[in-house]
Amino acid sequence: MLNPLAYRPQFDSLRGCCHMISNSLGAMPNRARDLAREYVDVWARRGVRAWDERWWNLPREVGNRIGALMNAPADSVAMHLNVTSASATVLSCFDLQGRRNKVVMVDMEFPSILYLYRAWLEGRGRLEIIPSEDGVTIPMDRLLSAIDESTLLVPISHVLFRSAYIMDVEAIIARAHAVGAMAVLDVFQSLGTVPVDVTGWNVDFAVGGCLKWLCGGPGACFLYVRPDLHPTLQPRLTGWMAHDDPFAFDHGPIAYTSGSYRFLNGTPNIPALYNCQPGLEIVDQIGIAAIRERSVHMTERLLTMARERGWPVTTPADSSRRGGTVAINVLRAQEVAAELHARNFLVDYRPDAGIRLSPHFYNTDEELGAVMGEIEAIMSSAAHTIRPRTQPTAP
Ligand SMILES: Cc1ncc(COP(=O)(O)O)c(C=O)c1O
Repeated sequence: MLNPLAYRPQFDSLRGCCHMISNSLGAMPNRARDLAREYVDVWARRGVRAWDERWWNLPREVGNRIGALMNAPADSVAMHLNVTSASATVLSCFDLQGRRNKVVMVDMEFPSILYLYRAWLEGRGRLEIIPSEDGVTIPMDRLLSAIDESTLLVPISHVLFRSAYIMDVEAIIARAHAVGAMAVLDVFQSLGTVPVDVTGWNVDFAVGGCLKWLCGGPGACFLYVRPDLHPTLQPRLTGWMAHDDPFAFDHGPIAYTSGSYRFLNGTPNIPALYNCQPGLEIVDQIGIAAIRERSVHMTERLLTMARERGWPVTTPADSSRRGGTVAINVLRAQEVAAELHARNFLVDYRPDAGIRLSPHFYNTDEELGAVMGEIEAIMSSAAHTIRPRTQPTAP
C-alpha cells in the first residue's frame, strides 16, 4: 500500500501553514496551476475549435474519473456547478401531484440542501425533517419509520457535515427501496476520505463535489444517477447539453439524450473541469483505502489529545462511524479558531460543533501535535480574548 505522505511534495500550498480544513477546501495540488494554464492556452490557441477537440467531452471524461472513485459505471456521472443545482436537477425529475410526494430528511443536512427542498416542496409536496437528538447522530428508528409508502425521495448525507457522523446508508436505502422511494446520497463529506460504493449500495442518486476531500477546487460538482433509471427520468431543469441532437438547435420540446449528459443543462464550467483533475488523479493513485487508514489514525490521535486535555468533542468516538473530521468545542471556540487562522493554522468553526480539524493524506503527525499545542497556547493566553471575530470560512 502506498504511503499517502509520499504525495505531500506535490502540494507546495501546504508550505507556511498547517492545513487542517479539507472538509471545507482541500489543499491545491501543484499540477492544478499547470492545468489552469493549459486551459487558458487552449482557449487562446484553439479558440472555438476546443469544443470539438476536447471541451464537449470534458464533463463525461471528468465524470468518469469521479465515477471510478465511487464504483459507478462509465457515463453515469454528470458534472454540475454545485451540489445544490445537482440536487435541483434530481427534484426536477419528479411530479409532486400524486400521493407519493413526501421527502424525508434530517435536520443535520447541509443548510443549502434544506433550503432547496423546503422551497421546492412548499405548496407542492410534503417535507418531514427528523431532528438529531444529540447534535451528532440521527435517531435511526425515527428516520426509518418516517420513510413510508408516500415517500418519494430520501436525501441523505453519507457523512454529516456538522458532526462527521457516518450514516448507515445501506439500511436507509434498503428501507427506501422497500417502500418504493429513492435515496439521494450526498457524498460531499465522504468521497476522497471514506469509501463510497454507489453500485454495491444500490444508490439511486449521488451528489458531491471535488473541492473538499478531492482537492479539486470549486465549481466541479457532480450528480450520479443509477443507469437503469436514466430512461425513466426527464429532468425539467435541463438545457441544450441534454439534447439528443444539440447542434440541430431544434425549437421543439427537448428530446433527451442517453447517458450522463441527460442530466446536464447549459454550457459546462470548463475551467473547473481542468482544475479538478490533478486532485482526482492523486486520490486515485493513493487509493481511498490507504487514505481512510491514515485518516482514522490521525483523527484517533486528535481525539486522544483532546481527551487528555479534557476538551469536549462533538464528533463520534467510534472511528467506524466517524468521517475525516474531529470537532472540539472548547470555550470561546470561534475566537480560538480566528486566532488559529491568524497564526496560519487553517481550521474550521461551526456553531454547536466548535473547532473542526480535518487532516487529510498530506498532513503529518507533527502537524496534529502542533495544532493541538497551538489551541492550548491560545486558550491559556489572553490573545484570543482581544482578537476580533473574523468572517467564517466557506463550507
Ligand atoms: C454535505 C454537504 N452538502 C452540500 C454542501 C454544499 O453544497 P453546494 O455545492 O451547493 O455549495 C456542503 C458544503 O460544505 C456539504 O458539506
